[in-house]
Amino acid sequence: MNKIDNRWEVVSSSELGRCAETLAKALDVQFKEVHQPGGTKVLRKFSVSETCELLGVTPDMLRNRHKNKTIPEVEADARGHRSYSAEEIDAIRKALCETTRGKAKDVFRPGRRDGDRLQVISCVNFKGGSSKTTTAILLAQRLALKGYRVLSVDLDPQASLTTLFGYRPELEFNEGGTIYDALRYENFDAGPGEESNAPVPLRDIIQKTYFHNLDLAPAGLMLTEYETETAHSFRDPRHTIFAKRLDDALKSVEADYDVVVIDCPPQLGFTTLSALTASTGLVVTVVPGMLDIASMSQFLKLVSETLDAVADYTETEVAYSFVKFLVTRYEPNDGPQRQTEGYLRAILKDRVLTNPMLKSTAISDAGMTHQTIYEVDPKDFVRSTLDRAIGSVNDVSAEIEAVIQAAWGR
Ligand SMILES: Nc1ncnc2c1ncn2[C@@H]1O[C@H](COP(=O)(O)OP(=O)(O)OP(=O)(O)O)[C@@H](O)[C@H]1O
Ligand SMILES: [Mg+2]
Repeated sequence: MNKIDNRWEVVSSSELGRCAETLAKALDVQFKEVHQPGGTKVLRKFSVSETCELLGVTPDMLRNRHKNKTIPEVEADARGHRSYSAEEIDAIRKALCETTRGKAKDVFRPGRRDGDRLQVISCVNFKGGSSKTTTAILLAQRLALKGYRVLSVDLDPQASLTTLFGYRPELEFNEGGTIYDALRYENFDAGPGEESNAPVPLRDIIQKTYFHNLDLAPAGLMLTEYETETAHSFRDPRHTIFAKRLDDALKSVEADYDVVVIDCPPQLGFTTLSALTASTGLVVTVVPGMLDIASMSQFLKLVSETLDAVADYTETEVAYSFVKFLVTRYEPNDGPQRQTEGYLRAILKDRVLTNPMLKSTAISDAGMTHQTIYEVDPKDFVRSTLDRAIGSVNDVSAEIEAVIQAAWGR
């Protein structure tokens, strides 16, 4: 009940239900408008200069390689301008690797080599709207375009990441098929005809996406059950502890990927803790504001204490290859933001990534049509705005790529 002008307005729960229904219908119409007929997303092609940047070669080198036929040919338009799909860029990268000698070939094989550990990176923070999902998808897409085999894991019941991949979780995963199914707790005492709720292999819920080299473990509202089930699970010692469940699931698909990027919900529940205990690296996203920094400080304190308690319980220490803070939604012309960013850097030093992710209308506008800056048609954007946003995200990804490579001893 709401008190408005000394009158009580009665809003029943069924009225809320009607609001939800109207919204769902409107969203459905909007979804169909922004997606191709059939609802499947398609990744655009890339220009010569974009392709050269992704491969780390010059346009001259690419042209010569086409001329002497040492890389696969691609389609050209009527004026002879080539364009490249993500698959073609990857095939060219492999051909370049096979035909390059010595150390120079390393640039064409960025992924894991024998003995390298799967890198599991979680985007975390308490704070809602600190760009966790945006960072997770942009990082995953950029790494995939750079030739890494990437698995995106949506661990947020809000399923924003899953939606950005072109799925409608409330329709498509209503009957199951989300990460919850791979994490849930079995009812060991289920009688004949009763649902045992046994977890399914992670492989069975992973979706290949329209984005080459990038798979998705989707989320849905059902994931909220994991919190309650975990709380009950402590009563039965037959259950694998929550701190090992995601880790075990990821181990079962380890051979297929170089990097896993996890999008966490804005809270420190068992879901986020499962991500924290499965991760090899953390990216803590923070908007440069004093309240945001204070909230992050609380989050880190709680994470540290909780992980210590988990370590005591499981008798295994949690240790990361890297923990990096990423300044997000950064506006260099905003004085207070610049000051707060400086303050953060003075305290956390090189734990803060050198490059911030700039606040950009290109990032938010792309999100309006369930796309990212890597997917949109450049013709639909002010080129300088799009290039600035892409440049900023590329720089952030390059730093994270460097720490991944360092974790592999390179
Ligand atoms: N650098 C940016 N520039 C402009 N808009 C941004 C930027 N980063 C994120 N946004 C927008 O801000 C909103 C919130 O971002 P996002 O969903 O990534 O935050 P989040 O931390 O995942 O939120 P939640 O805590 O709810 O999961 C989105 O609409 C997104 O498009
Ligand atoms: Mg999010």
